[in-house]
Amino acid sequence: MSSKPRILVTRRWPEAVERVLADRFDMAFNGNDVAMPANALAQALREFDAVLPTVSDRLPANLFDGGGIKARILGNYGVGYNHIDVAAAKAANIVVTNTPGVLTDCTADIAMTLLLAVARRAGEGERQIRAGEWTGWRPTHMIGSKVTGKTLGIIGFGRIGKAMAKRCHFGFDMEVVFYNRSPIDAAEAARYGARQLDTVDEVLKVADFVSLHCPGGGENRHLINAERLAMMKKGAHLVNTARGDVVDEPALIEALKNGVIRGAGLDVFEAEPNVPAGLRVLENVVLLPHLGSATEETRVAMGMKVVDNITAFFDGREPPDRVA
Ligand code: DGY
Repeated sequence: MSSKPRILVTRRWPEAVERVLADRFDMAFNGNDVAMPANALAQALREFDAVLPTVSDRLPANLFDGGGIKARILGNYGVGYNHIDVAAAKAANIVVTNTPGVLTDCTADIAMTLLLAVARRAGEGERQIRAGEWTGWRPTHMIGSKVTGKTLGIIGFGRIGKAMAKRCHFGFDMEVVFYNRSPIDAAEAARYGARQLDTVDEVLKVADFVSLHCPGGGENRHLINAERLAMMKKGAHLVNTARGDVVDEPALIEALKNGVIRGAGLDVFEAEPNVPAGLRVLENVVLLPHLGSATEETRVAMGMKVVDNITAFFDGREPPDRVA
């Protein structure tokens, strides 16, 4: 019998990271990369010393109920951990870690991609060409919104919010305002060309583009609802690379259909991988399949962060990215 900790990875990870894991631990990999159902995850918590889930796995409180838990750590592959009931994990004496820092730039890059794509109608234009429907250049064809010099409103001024501010202010001459739950030192905000406002509503009212960078779940669920969408400028665009549940999707669909706001760029959805048909039929929305961190460099770095966390834990050291 191996004396190494027995560890389950719930999805395929980059090969380089799986190799390191296999060198250090007694591993079980999910070779076919199919999402594990709740009962299999519950069973895994009872069979393995560590389970390494990712943001598409659901670990609600009931998975930890009923005793017999063997797992001592959940090394989450991802910075967001609202898919894990952290209080229930803690009550079951399970440590939870995440992967902050390494996906900041790539997630901000995707937010910028969505902002530009929706403002300049890139998705629509691409669809038109692919359908063979483009009839040629003309002065009134597919007119979008200018980005340079406009006002960006950021909700959540953590690492990714700051990286987005930096791109927009220094790259696109945008005025940047933000809402953040805790106060940010004005000099620190100024380093990113940004200025803090007191409320979400104040940000929504002045921004031409609103980009969401707050955690999902809890009090942020449906933070952007029908009332708040109505506060936005009529020509404004919403970008969401945070979590799907921050936005009330049916309310957003209505707002996009009725011209309450001009467009939206979305990388995340409330019930992934299901994207409501009401969104899929709209031309004024750009939809990406949760690609924020999807670059080779970042996905390997995320995996290595998990390796560092579980290695520290099983060596008896404090995991560097412990969240519970
Ligand atoms: C995260 O890490 O939380 C992202 O949503 C996926 O990379």
